[in-house]
Amino acid sequence: MDDITSPEHVRDQYGTEGRLETRRSVWRPTDDGRDPADEAFKAIDRAMTGDSSVLEVGCGTGVMAERINALPGVTLVAVDLSERFVELTAARGVDARQADICYLPFEDDTFDVVYAGWMLYHVRDIDRALAQVRRVLRPGGTFVAVTNGDDTLADLRREAGGRRMVTTFSSENGEHALGRHFSDVRRQDLETRAVFADHAEAQAYLDTAGEGLVLPPFEGPRTCAGHVTVFEAR
Ligand SMILES: C[S@@+](CC[C@H](N)C(=O)[O-])C[C@H]1O[C@@H](n2cnc3c(N)ncnc32)[C@H](O)[C@@H]1O
Repeated sequence: MDDITSPEHVRDQYGTEGRLETRRSVWRPTDDGRDPADEAFKAIDRAMTGDSSVLEVGCGTGVMAERINALPGVTLVAVDLSERFVELTAARGVDARQADICYLPFEDDTFDVVYAGWMLYHVRDIDRALAQVRRVLRPGGTFVAVTNGDDTLADLRREAGGRRMVTTFSSENGEHALGRHFSDVRRQDLETRAVFADHAEAQAYLDTAGEGLVLPPFEGPRTCAGHVTVFEAR
């Protein structure tokens, strides 16, 4: 497997929006209707007390940033490493800037809430990133982070000749990492599903990672298990 924390991988994956959008499009909520992005949004909203300043790191194409920006009393800054994603997020009316979570260009104690959705697994030095988040958060501020479990799509990956995706920040190790920087860490675990209309769609999903995995043929649609955790840390 490619090292998903390498700068080359991150540049290759997020220079344009196609790969990210292909992957996002197949995910469905839990059987009881909980969507991880909605749960993260509720956590961000709950953490805001009156007028609040919010930072989103790794904002991607700006879908969540646009939702946060519409909350009453919010001042939002969204950052991402990808120039293209900063451009797409700014086009949604958001104050978007290019920055690396490991070198956040903000003063200490600037934000009431920081949100990082599905991005910390791209960071090699997770303690440096979390220390930066802690630094820019005001005392009493909240960090909301979303990530996947290592077994997400594991069956599909194995069938295609790959291995489970073990990452630097996952459902399995995220709580421990956050506990080194925050005194109160809570979690919500969600069993999501990826629904592929057919073999071609499942193969296209695997192709986005550029690992050369080849899925044996199958007929009809297919549903695969995912696992997502929404962390709230203070
Ligand atoms: C899987 S995408 C998630 C995007 C978005 N949060 C979402 O949920 O759709 C990961 C994002 O993190 C960004 N990213 C990766 N490493 C980063 C870093 N060190 N600092 C800031 N952004 C980073 C990528 O450019 C990409 O936009």
